[in-house]
Amino acid sequence: MQLSDLATIEIHDPDFVNDPHAVYSAAMKKNWLARFPMGYVVLDQQAMRDVLTDNRCRTPIRDISAMLGVEKGTPFARFYDHFLLALDGETHRRLRMMLAPAFTQKEAAKYRPFMNETINRIIDSLDGAAECDFTKVAARYPITVICDILGVSTDDIDRFEEWVIVLSDAFSLNEETVAKVNWALAHLFDYVEELVDARRNQNEKKDDLLQTLVDLATDGESLSDEELRVLLINLISAGYDTTKNQLILMMKVLLDHPEEWSKVADDPGRVQKVVDESLRFYNPVSATFRVTNVDMDYRGTLIPKDTMLMLPLTYAGRDESFYDSPDTFNPDRDKNKSITFGWGIHFCIGMFMARALLEEALSVLVERMKNPRLADKPVFRHFSGMVGMDALPISFDPGPGPRSPS
Ligand code: HEM
Repeated sequence: MQLSDLATIEIHDPDFVNDPHAVYSAAMKKNWLARFPMGYVVLDQQAMRDVLTDNRCRTPIRDISAMLGVEKGTPFARFYDHFLLALDGETHRRLRMMLAPAFTQKEAAKYRPFMNETINRIIDSLDGAAECDFTKVAARYPITVICDILGVSTDDIDRFEEWVIVLSDAFSLNEETVAKVNWALAHLFDYVEELVDARRNQNEKKDDLLQTLVDLATDGESLSDEELRVLLINLISAGYDTTKNQLILMMKVLLDHPEEWSKVADDPGRVQKVVDESLRFYNPVSATFRVTNVDMDYRGTLIPKDTMLMLPLTYAGRDESFYDSPDTFNPDRDKNKSITFGWGIHFCIGMFMARALLEEALSVLVERMKNPRLADKPVFRHFSGMVGMDALPISFDPGPGPRSPS
């Protein structure tokens, strides 16, 4: 195959921005590999899995940083220096090991009552209204739970929400976003520094993740202060936009399939299946990226050293060789393994937390929002690191009030 014969995907073209899946599908008809302005796009799921576990590839954070002209010493550069996705080898393993105990399936299950209570409280705040912009409901939910897990006051959400939203543009490969990301990160660095200082000045130790991390940083050997600051920003932001948009996308697909909404309401046993299928059907992570460390021979194609590979995870669930009728939303499908949460060493540490968040939300929503329907046109986000919506106006028949936490 000649690399020059491949389809080219223009990520800023309106056709792509409006319907990336259609553009990927058209390119996939030609080949599993396509071109994009910064390198190549890997379109089939097996190839994505292979690239994500191939040690001939690196995560491209430093490459992106150079491409965007991120200057040394700026908040953006400080963040990328210790950001989990930028690290590999022993440093990455050490940080993952520190976080792992707080993100097990068992630990996620402990938070289910709080998740249930939180989504009920958010719906209560609608004051019995029969319509809302669902993006606003989804926005408050994961961040409240993540704050609780970390030990961060939920009163602070108003302070950092805007900065966290801007930070998701750090992965948009767009030079114009650098100044905004620097602005947001400058605030986030100040915020987490205050948070750590306040915790260090408290007389009594608390039993939460923030305390564990602050203690590890205080011994000076396990974790440096700068690593601690970046880790906190990483955790606050990583689970926010992803889980929020996954919830919005799940609502959208269920608005398009009202029969599935009723089926879950009648049979709560279907919650997990519907969440799994939503994760396959609509992944909020538009793409992740890797760069080749060497000239890489893969499937008989030579990909030159230092080539940027874009892996559109949002499209991985639509691969015909993995799923029958992949464009059909079918929670009852047999085979439903996806790479929505990534693959390899950078596999999402928050996966169990995210699944629990989505399952608890769905089980409450089907009870409290009966017969939901689109009230106005949804506003899709432009292509950036995240697939999602800026507005999803819905109306519904309010169901019975909050049930007590299970
Ligand atoms: C539906 C929700 C979520 C999705 C779809 C998602 C997806 C992903 C993906 C695809 C990656 C790997 C990226 C790559 O390899 O380039 C990742 C990594 C990560 N995720 Fe998530 N995520 C979600 C929720 C969360 C939550 C709730 C948290 C924690 C509070 C979290 C924390 C992280 C962290 C820290 C990493 C970096 C791991 C590393 O580099 O070792 N995520 N996520």
